[in-house]
Amino acid sequence: MAEYEPGNVLVTGGAGFIGANFVRFWRRRYPENRLVVLDALTYAGNRSSLADLEGREHFHFVHGDIRDQSLVEELLRRHELRTIVHFAAESHVDRSIAGPDAFISTNIQGTHSLLKAARQVWLEETGAGSHRFHHVSTDEVYGSLGPADPGFSEATAYAPNSPYSASKAASDHLVRAYHHTFGLAVTTSNCSNNYGPYQFPEKLIPLMLINVLEGRPLPVYGDGLNVRDWLHVDDHNRAIELVLRKGRVGDTYNIGGNSERTNLDIVRLLCRLMDERFAGNPTLGERFAGAPGARGLPSDELIAFVSDRPGHDRRYAVDAGKISGELGYRPRESFDTGIDKTIDWYLANEAWWRAVMDGSYQDWVRHHYGRGVD
Ligand code: NAD
Ligand code: DAU
Repeated sequence: MAEYEPGNVLVTGGAGFIGANFVRFWRRRYPENRLVVLDALTYAGNRSSLADLEGREHFHFVHGDIRDQSLVEELLRRHELRTIVHFAAESHVDRSIAGPDAFISTNIQGTHSLLKAARQVWLEETGAGSHRFHHVSTDEVYGSLGPADPGFSEATAYAPNSPYSASKAASDHLVRAYHHTFGLAVTTSNCSNNYGPYQFPEKLIPLMLINVLEGRPLPVYGDGLNVRDWLHVDDHNRAIELVLRKGRVGDTYNIGGNSERTNLDIVRLLCRLMDERFAGNPTLGERFAGAPGARGLPSDELIAFVSDRPGHDRRYAVDAGKISGELGYRPRESFDTGIDKTIDWYLANEAWWRAVMDGSYQDWVRHHYGRGVD
């Protein structure tokens, strides 16, 4: 079967964590193709994450909302875009518990609005030429696993447990329906937990890293024994490229790292790696005087068990057999190599994380972690 040629691409949510990494990856792979980023720049979207690309040839940043159907239609026409890679979403489970409305609006209505725009321009106006709508989704739509259960496969029944995962599940169904009913050429990928550069410091790994540097408590939810399957963001983006180019239209592909860890293991590992860095590099103690490592103390003294996330899924694990078998997917980064690079990135990019942690974010963190550090 001939591979799909993506041509000019619209990346939604390209100023967020995975999107910003995808944009860099894509520019290296397809420097001659036009790439348009559409991003509403919510608290999680940061133009500074794309600063080095501003003004470059074939790169366009549009500050706008995926719920603005006429804007999306205009972009598809004006830039002759025939591929959409759809990352834009509200993505943080804790925020979906504190306030689900934005998740329903962006993740469900926003995805629907994009689908309507794609249908209008690609099917109604230009008449079903070569096009592709790739929807970036999550393994959380499958719910929670017991300790001995096999990983989620594409045949696992949907059982979302949080407002976030329910909204992503709804968006997956809409994408599927637009293929089945209207003939839109779609693919969907459901990926496990990502980590790497440019991840907003509300998610487990960057939050813990920065709290170690600032000497703040490391809030571990519940008993810390929940399990996630970790994947470096570059491996996720390589997998998306494979699905776009070689995946079967209408199909779903699960992406995972085969790298299950408990949260407590992750936090302890980060503490150990940070202690090693402080011990080997005295300038770190000068830069981060509040960190335990600056006084020769172990970072794990900051671990604080806090009340659990409501409805907290116990375990996620992905069976990536389909994408490996059919498309030849293999992660390149092991968790050990990936986490080392990620720590180094956060140490080298202090200006980035300080800039993105603005006042409103700090207020949210204070409010959120106001609930019970034991
Ligand atoms: P993120 O929160 O870091 O970034 C989301 C981006 O979307 C931000 O730039 C934000 O400004 C933008 N956005 C939000 N609402 C918008 C709107 N209405 N219009 C336009 N832009 C809007 O998220 P992320 O972690 O990079 O995740 C990207 C996608 O990947 C999401 O769809 C998420 O569900 C999915 N996913 C994430 C992970 C993970 O571990 N982070 C794993 C699997 C799947
Ligand atoms: O599985 C894919 C999903 O991974 C994505 O769809 C989501 O967008 C992404 O946010 C992520 O969801 P999680 O809820 O698994 O990620 P988070 O980093 O919020 O939490 C990871 C685990 O760590 C989870 O079990 C909750 C726990 N945790 C998290 C934070 C922020 C803590 O114990 N303490 C914390 O402070």
